[in-house]
Amino acid sequence: MKNGLDDVVATETMLSDVDGIGGILIIRGQSLDALAGVVTYEELLALLLSDAFDEKLDADGLRQQIGLARQEVFRTVPDAAMPLLKLPVTDAVRALTAQFADGDDLATALRLIAAPAVFTPAVIRLKNGQAPVAPDSSLTHAADILHMLHGRSVSPQEAAALDTYLVTVSDHGMNASTFAARVVASTHAGLVSSVLAAFGALKGPLHGGAPGPVLDMLDAIGTPDNAESWLEKALDDGERLMGFGHRIYRVRDPRADALMQALRRLAGTGNYGAGRFKLAESVEAAALRILARRKPDRPLKTNVEFYTALLLETLGFPRESFTSVFAMGRVGGWIAHAREQTQHGRLIRPQSLYVGPRPIKAA
Ligand code: ACO
Repeated sequence: MKNGLDDVVATETMLSDVDGIGGILIIRGQSLDALAGVVTYEELLALLLSDAFDEKLDADGLRQQIGLARQEVFRTVPDAAMPLLKLPVTDAVRALTAQFADGDDLATALRLIAAPAVFTPAVIRLKNGQAPVAPDSSLTHAADILHMLHGRSVSPQEAAALDTYLVTVSDHGMNASTFAARVVASTHAGLVSSVLAAFGALKGPLHGGAPGPVLDMLDAIGTPDNAESWLEKALDDGERLMGFGHRIYRVRDPRADALMQALRRLAGTGNYGAGRFKLAESVEAAALRILARRKPDRPLKTNVEFYTALLLETLGFPRESFTSVFAMGRVGGWIAHAREQTQHGRLIRPQSLYVGPRPIKAA
């Protein structure tokens, strides 16, 4: 029995591969550095979903179809969102996504891709007492998400930074949420059920719930000279440092670099908090030093969530929405994996090792 299924190979996939020693992420045969900051999210989806459905998909066609899906999904906001506004943003977005009928077809997939992109800005605005902004189907997915969030046209640099983020987090091997999606897909329940299961798994702080707490940590540390003592105390208190460590990577997560570069590209646009970035760099350096000293046998390096926090903050997303912004990108991977599982896999049904008492045999 392997606690946490460490090293267990659960499936074959054509979709992505994580090399934790080399620090390399491959998506459909291409390394992350050839994709992040290079292709749009629509181009990435055309790649990921290329054999998921009967229809032939290309990036331009997908851009139009996803634009129309955003409009369709937005029409559900007035009736569906109001009763859910007491929930945290991510819980409200998950609940709104649950309203759609299950299915295994492209139309269901398009609705699911549109759902977190439309619901997250709408819920954020409604919670702030602002009217939701209707999508503009002529924009790219990334540009329209920011337009729906801020209610203004966005700069090409901002749209490019969010595009880089969505591509960077789109797929990542057999992570917990993708595995959850595949388990549900293996029962042939449908894409909505698979994506909802994945959404639930993503939310936890050991997976996609970490970037909000990264900002809490930066706020609590406040200034670079406070970093060492704050981090030491947190570890003395038995806490984990959010944004560090990974089940697979023993080196720096390549996605952290992709996002750091996206942040640097925002420099000079007026959207870049130089002081915040300096603080983050000092905290990162101190955390790596301290973790290396305290855990010499377990390399604990920066993971994707550390620079996710800074990038999404710079783009104006409130921290309580970060997990549902993660879902905007990862939903492509969940759908691709769910379809691959349904097309080529069997029911996932592992064994457990019973360690409880057994009935006493009658004498
Ligand atoms: N801070 C302090 N100690 C840590 C950290 C951390 N961030 N991560 C792991 N450790 C320690 C554990 O305490 C444990 O120490 P021990 O053996 O002395 O008890 C050892 O390293 C191994 O920990 P595990 O939980 O077995 O490692 P696992 O591979 O299961 O954990 C995980 C991976 C959950 C990401 C972990 O590193 C963690 O909790 N990180 C902080 C939360 C975080 O950043 N989550 C986002 C992950 S990226 C993503 O999913 C998109």
